[in-house]
Amino acid sequence: MAEIRFYNGDDIPLELHKVRIVQKLDLVPVERRAEAINEAGFNTFLLKNKDIFLDMLTDSGVNAMSDRQLAAMMVADDSYAGSATFTRLTDKLKEIFDTDYFLPAHQGRAAENIIAMTFVKEGSIIPMNYHFTTTKAHITRLGGFVEELVIDEGIKLTSTHPFKGNFDLEKLETLFEKNGDKIPFVRIETGTNLIGGQPVSLENMEAVADIVHRHGKLVVMDASLLQDNLYFIKTREEQAKDLTLREITHRISKKMDIIYFSARKLGFARGGGIAIHDKSLYLKMRELVPMFEGFLTYGGMSVREMEAMAVGLDETMDMDVVSQGPLFIKYMTDELLMLGVPVVTPAGGLGCHLDASRFLSHVRQEEYPAGALAAAVYIAGGIRGMERGTISEQREADGSEHLASVELLRLALPRRVFTLSQVKYAVDRIKWLFDHRELIGGLRFVEEPSSLRFFFGRLEPVSDWPEKLVEAFRKDFKDSL
Ligand code: F0G
Repeated sequence: MAEIRFYNGDDIPLELHKVRIVQKLDLVPVERRAEAINEAGFNTFLLKNKDIFLDMLTDSGVNAMSDRQLAAMMVADDSYAGSATFTRLTDKLKEIFDTDYFLPAHQGRAAENIIAMTFVKEGSIIPMNYHFTTTKAHITRLGGFVEELVIDEGIKLTSTHPFKGNFDLEKLETLFEKNGDKIPFVRIETGTNLIGGQPVSLENMEAVADIVHRHGKLVVMDASLLQDNLYFIKTREEQAKDLTLREITHRISKKMDIIYFSARKLGFARGGGIAIHDKSLYLKMRELVPMFEGFLTYGGMSVREMEAMAVGLDETMDMDVVSQGPLFIKYMTDELLMLGVPVVTPAGGLGCHLDASRFLSHVRQEEYPAGALAAAVYIAGGIRGMERGTISEQREADGSEHLASVELLRLALPRRVFTLSQVKYAVDRIKWLFDHRELIGGLRFVEEPSSLRFFFGRLEPVSDWPEKLVEAFRKDFKDSL
């Protein structure tokens, strides 16, 4: 990555791409925004795009695609079996991960389903640095348990630790000594989604793999967020500074038994799959693909998306492409930090994460501060974020609330989608909201699904706080949208 300095000393991320296709956006008035979030049951997943200005819900399937990806989509080879597109994709995966086998799946959670159905039984324990919502749901559905072994620093929201997603190696050893027979595999999430996109170091990944292999078990890597993690390894880890992203990826891959990913994230397309070194492991999982996904040469994906994914994976090895996300996230995080807004530090991947428990310290965790903040940020700016706190957890078997260890509002920055002025706008509205935070109150469920409740659950405010917020907005912003 070339370093480009500004004459005036500005330290801002400079886009190394140009925009050639655009999509018009509308910003609806604050009164409509309050109405829309009410219609959506105060759940940002249920908002309609026509009411959204900056969609920072996720980066999943919404990263900007490159001209090379779009061009590749035109030469896709559509056939049920034996498609040349599939061969191109498997060749690319072989080149990048040095794996011999690949099982396609329609997205990341479908890969999780296949892995869980193959290896998880009633009473299994799956250690991981941190859980992801769909991963945990697949494991618990089969009677397994998730054991989180992230270092203590991982859930400290304010920190300078460069790799907050690292495993606590001692805890991993102890768990193997106590319960090794119940562990079919250890899952490494690179980087961690729910605790702020925090990365795992190359050193830690290798050490984890050594421990797991010493105990004769498998290492499964969730590489959905590997792109940002590669950037952090290259820029924060001394031993990797002179390695190319391809070399780092090979080093990681060599230690993994199974690598699965959501290509809605890794590879800037829509799809997913499982890359495997060993033939017997491949054969163990293979039969589930035609049953749940599709034939082995497409696995539920469109061939056009597979072509885009092959090119996207190739572009993921280019530091100019990979750096855009983390640099924009760092810019947004640093600006908010300077304004005194509580954010997760250091800036990670995926998005900028607001610390809802400090932002709304007056809202009890049982009244979902991260969910309330998501609704308030939408009302204040037409910005859609994602609650990553207690609403994203599942209740305990006895029906009691499982309070999340962190209450975050994630403002994802899909790669190459937003401009710096849009990020500045988001910072401005969030600062306004922070100055009026006392107005914001909590939420309570009115409709609560038993599994993955954050997707469809409907809530209501515990008071008339949304109206108060709209009044304050009008007073300060006059006739502005
Ligand atoms: N693993 C991780 C680390 C993820 O972030 C995701 C998706 C998945 C697995 C599942 O992949 O969506 O293709 O089925 N994360 C999205 C997000 C949904 O918004 O963070 P999927």
